Amino acid sequence: MMNWILMKLMNPLADNFTRAILNQDYPTNPAEIITVADKLGPRAIIEAGMRAQTGKALQRPFGSPVVRSPWDQILLNSRQLFQLPTETLDEISTVTVIGKAAKKPLKLDIPIMITGMSYGGSLSLKMKMALAEGSAMAGTSTNTGESAVAPETRALAKYLVGQYNRGGWLSSREQLDLLDAIEVQLGQGAFGGAVESTMQSGSTGEHLRETWHLQEGEDATVRARMPGVSSPRDIIDLVNKLKSEHDVPVGVKIAASDFIEQDLQVIADTQADFIVIDGAEGGTAVAPPTLEDDVGLPTLYGLVRTVDWLEEHRIRDRFSIIAAGGLCTPGHFLKALAVGADAVYIGTIAVLAAVHTQVAKVIPEAVPAQLVLYDGKYTDKLDAKQVATSLANFLNSCTEEIKLALQALGKKSVSELSREDLVTTNKDLAEFMNIRYAGSPRMQ
Ligand SMILES: Cc1cc2nc3c(=O)[nH]c(=O)nc-3n(C[C@H](O)[C@H](O)[C@H](O)COP(=O)(O)O)c2cc1C
Repeated sequence: MMNWILMKLMNPLADNFTRAILNQDYPTNPAEIITVADKLGPRAIIEAGMRAQTGKALQRPFGSPVVRSPWDQILLNSRQLFQLPTETLDEISTVTVIGKAAKKPLKLDIPIMITGMSYGGSLSLKMKMALAEGSAMAGTSTNTGESAVAPETRALAKYLVGQYNRGGWLSSREQLDLLDAIEVQLGQGAFGGAVESTMQSGSTGEHLRETWHLQEGEDATVRARMPGVSSPRDIIDLVNKLKSEHDVPVGVKIAASDFIEQDLQVIADTQADFIVIDGAEGGTAVAPPTLEDDVGLPTLYGLVRTVDWLEEHRIRDRFSIIAAGGLCTPGHFLKALAVGADAVYIGTIAVLAAVHTQVAKVIPEAVPAQLVLYDGKYTDKLDAKQVATSLANFLNSCTEEIKLALQALGKKSVSELSREDLVTTNKDLAEFMNIRYAGSPRMQ
C-alpha cells in the first residue's frame, strides 16, 4: 500500500523532471548540476562546502581515494609446464625476517605486518589491544604508531614495533627496551612527508596522558622535524645511536617522494636495518586532502625506485624493505614482494577487516570509524575479542592465498619472489620496472 502511494506521488515528479532535463535549454535545465559535478567532481564540491563552513584545513579520514599505483596492470607468472608448480603446499614457507643482520632479528610467520597506527593520535586503546592480539594470533607484528608503548598492548602483542616519533613520546631507554624493533618515523605517505599537528589537552584522557607523560593541560604536538634534529647528519647520528644501544632491528620510515634517491642516500649513511617506504596512497586517521591527494609519490613507484637504488649501490642486502600505502589484497602483497619488498605494512584494510560486521552496530547513524577512533562515540560497543579473531582470520586467509599463488608460481618461499615473476600490460611500466611486457613474446 505504502509503495503504491509513494509511486503515485513520485510518478508526476519523475515525469516533470524527465521532461525538464530532456526539454529545457540551459541555463534553466536542472541537469546543469550533472555537468558541474562532472567538471568539478563530487568530492571537490563536497569538500568546497566543508571549507566554506569551517574556514579551516579539512581533515579527511583514511587517506587519499586517488590510487595512482597501477598494480592491476601487473600480473604474476605461473609455472605449469616448461617448469612445474610446487608439488605440495606444505613445502611452502611464508616466514619473513626483518633486520637479518641485527643481533635480535624480527622473525615473523608471514610477510604482512600491522602498520603504525597511534593509540591516542588515532585509535582507541581497546582497538590497539585487539590489533595486538589479532596480529599475535597470526604470528606477525603490530606497531605503536606515533604514540608510546601502552603496557596493555605490549602484553598482548607477540611482536611490537615501536615508532621513535616526532612527538617525542617513545624515546626513553625504558620504553625502547620494550620493543622487538624500533622505527624512526620521519614521514608518512598520507601526508606526503611530515607536518606538525597538535592534539589539544582537552582531548587527551588520563590513561593517554600517563602513557605519553603529559602534564594536565599540556597539549600534545607532533612536530614536522624530529626533536633535536636540524640536519640529515643529526638523523644519521640518531639512528646509529639507537643501533648501538639496542639489539633489535632499527629502521627508518619515510614517505615516498620524488627525492627518494636523495633520502635513501642519507639512510644508506646510517647503520639502519630496515626501510619503510610509505606511498601516496597511504592511509591515516585524518589528514588534509591536499597532502593526501597532491603530495608524495605513489607506492609502486616509490618501492621500485628504492629497490633499484639499493641494488645499483650494491647495498640491497643491508636493509629489509617494508612497503606501505594502499596495499589491501594478497595480490598487492605478492606483487610488492616480487618488486623487491621483504614485507608489507597494512593499515586501512586491516582496520576494516578487523571491525568486520561490527560496523552494523553503528551504521547508519554513524560512520564505522566511531567504533575504533580514540575519540570515537561508540568505542564501548566494540567487541575486542571479535576484532582480534576477525583480523587473524583476514591475515590467515591472505596467507593461504599467498601460498596458493606461490604454488602456482613454482616457489617454496616468499623470499624467492622476484621481478622475473611479473609481467605487465603497460609498456612504460615494463621499461620502468624492468619486467616483461605482456604484448611481446618471451624468448627465454
Ligand atoms: C588509522 C591510521 C592511523 C595511522 N597512524 C599512523 C602513525 O601514528 N604513524 C605513522 O607513521 N603512520 C600512521 N598511519 C599510516 C600507516 O602507518 C601506513 O603508513 C599507511 O596506513 C599504509 O597505508 P594503508 O592504510 O593504505 O594500508 C596510520 C594509518 C591509519 C589508517
